[in-house]
Amino acid sequence: MGIRKDESAEPRTGTGLYAHVVGWGMAVPDIVITNQDLEAIVETNDEWIRTRTGIRERRIAGERESTSSLGLKAARRALEVANMLPTDIDLIIVATSTPENVFPSAACLIQNGLGATRAGAFDLSAACSGFVYGVEMASQAIRSGSIRAAVVIGAETMTRILNWQDRGTCILFGDGAGAIVLRASEAEGGVLSAVLRSDGSGGDLLGLPAVGSIDLLNSDYVNDEHTLNKMHMNGGEVFKFATRVITESIHQALEKANLSIEDLSLIVPHQANMRIIQAAARALKIAPEMFMSNLERYGNTSAASIPIALCEAVQEGRIKPDDNIAFVGFGGGLTWAAMILRWGDPRPVDRRSEALINQGRREFSYFLVRIRASLRRFSRRISKLFGRSNRIQRLRDKADRLD
Ligand code: COA
Repeated sequence: MGIRKDESAEPRTGTGLYAHVVGWGMAVPDIVITNQDLEAIVETNDEWIRTRTGIRERRIAGERESTSSLGLKAARRALEVANMLPTDIDLIIVATSTPENVFPSAACLIQNGLGATRAGAFDLSAACSGFVYGVEMASQAIRSGSIRAAVVIGAETMTRILNWQDRGTCILFGDGAGAIVLRASEAEGGVLSAVLRSDGSGGDLLGLPAVGSIDLLNSDYVNDEHTLNKMHMNGGEVFKFATRVITESIHQALEKANLSIEDLSLIVPHQANMRIIQAAARALKIAPEMFMSNLERYGNTSAASIPIALCEAVQEGRIKPDDNIAFVGFGGGLTWAAMILRWGDPRPVDRRSEALINQGRREFSYFLVRIRASLRRFSRRISKLFGRSNRIQRLRDKADRLD
């Protein structure tokens, strides 16, 4: 079991640094939509959805929830588990297909909500593979010595981009967020290998036409089937693609890490469809129980599904220190990605008092964020008021001149 030090197929970075997962957190909305609830919206039924997908219910964001508000909650929980401060973070990556804005990014909104004043922040677009892409980007930045710590978040409000008349897609997706904290250490472990792949020729199989990149009025891309800001999918083709790339990319990532499938304790896959997971298990010749699955309760939460499943796997005690685990994602683009990690926080166990002090400092940072936001709102109101009185003064001046 485990990595033989000198045989690692991952290129050596020269820094001797590894990127370890030291914190994790998730956030899902409280509102639950069951399959039965969907029967009132489209012509479908619980039995069809369960047998074809494995999904029973999903969460849907409330009016006051958004991609970044869910992502922020998940990130704060991950920092708490990591026992780190927002100012310890050098980089925030948010994998999402449903940001509130093209800019400012969801990552910048979360950076502000954390008070992570020393962090760079950006959104990453690789659909349902985005979280694995993000972890690899952050891990490489850590291994190169460019940064010490990063928060990687997968956050989505998929239900806001669904076509609620299309029963082939609207039954599949849900909202939520998950986050991890990655931290540099000289102890061997953490992210061991990754394989990132794409095939843009399959871009039409799964898409979300958005404003900006093409002349929408003259484009064939937006037509009767492809509506602006609504997701479309060719379910059958995506199904075949998914089962193929899960197997292929896990084998490739294992090879890069000099491990074999027997060395893995758990695979945390993108949660799209139970039948995809079962088909991948058959192809890999492993028991379906080797795959973590919670899609029954959340549906497909796109980039958020792997970190949410990871959090629940840890909570359920399915991942222990020194376990080798795999992430595998696939989705629009087309994109896919697999990653092998050695689980475990290399830091010595923190003393209780330090954890309490850090808790207080985090709370203070979040308090400052709120104060800063209120002050900004207040100063905007004041300047508006002054702006108005300036305008009134200018009108008066004009009137005076007319006299
Ligand atoms: N409820 C009831 N019937 C439905 C339905 C629904 N929600 N959606 C489709 N149907 C019907 C179809 O109209 C079709 O009826 P017909 O035979 O009378 O024409 C029948 O069910 C079979 O449809 P089909 O699309 O062949 O079903 P399927 O077994 O391929 O399952 C998916 C459809 C979407 C569940 C499946 O293709 C899938 O999960 N694909 C992968 C999607 C995915 O994971 N995407 C995200 C990747 S990141």
